[in-house]
Amino acid sequence: MLHVRDLTAGYHHDNPVVRSVSFDLPTPGVHAIVGPNGAGKTTLLHTLAGHLHPTSGRVVLERRDITGLLPHHTAQAGVALAPQGRRLWPSLTVLDHLTITRPAHGAGFSVEDLLDLFPPLAARRRHHGHQLSGGEQQMLTIARALRTHPRLLLADEPTEGLSPRIAEQVTGILRDLPHRGVTVLATLPHTHAATALTDRVHILTAGHLSDPLDPHDRQADALLSDHLTLTPAHPE
Ligand SMILES: Nc1ncnc2c1ncn2[C@@H]1O[C@H](COP(=O)(O)OP(=O)(O)OP(=O)(O)O)[C@@H](O)[C@H]1O
Ligand SMILES: [Mg+2]
Repeated sequence: MLHVRDLTAGYHHDNPVVRSVSFDLPTPGVHAIVGPNGAGKTTLLHTLAGHLHPTSGRVVLERRDITGLLPHHTAQAGVALAPQGRRLWPSLTVLDHLTITRPAHGAGFSVEDLLDLFPPLAARRRHHGHQLSGGEQQMLTIARALRTHPRLLLADEPTEGLSPRIAEQVTGILRDLPHRGVTVLATLPHTHAATALTDRVHILTAGHLSDPLDPHDRQADALLSDHLTLTPAHPE
């Protein structure tokens, strides 16, 4: 479904952040990328979503080449980003967030579908972004992304800053999305968080991506801890 080949991207041509990354995501499914701070997880998702232009490589979603397309075109192709740090509009209500975002193509999740999927948001539908708890903000970030009716949801650190109980609630919703036709690619801080979400994790260290691993597999943790203790974030 998603095929990424030799993708290189970053902020300076001579020092890329994402380095020749290749992977395939079977559909439908839930997949995770785990890596230390600064490894390039956000940069990779932003490149897939079209917020950052790759230096080289290819991104193919359901046989369509979406390499280097702008965000509104990747959205039309079926990609949605739930960004790290949520990026809600503080003065808009929950309902405003969900009504000004429209399906990019065809019928998708209606506002009522999304309020059913996230009951805490239904109870807060007239609250403004800045009046929501961290968990409610995260749910709204995901709901807003789903409103575009994506085939692929890129969820950047969806459990960051949440209590274990709320993190489990959000994880449960993400785990269920493939049954609704949405494939999920989430970034997470450690393999333990990934075990709650999926049995397929890639480890990203200094812009290099591993083959898929079982997050229960000690090899995944070993890759991470080797990197944390031995390698600087961006070797020259
Ligand atoms: N807008 C930017 N301009 C220049 N450099 C950036 C920019 N955004 C990120 N970087 C750099 O790119 C590298 C990777 O950052 P990125 O945010 O992709 O990592 P991450 O894995 O998502 O980290 P975290 O776990 O903290 O979210 C870091 O060295 C960071 O300083
Ligand atoms: Mg990040």
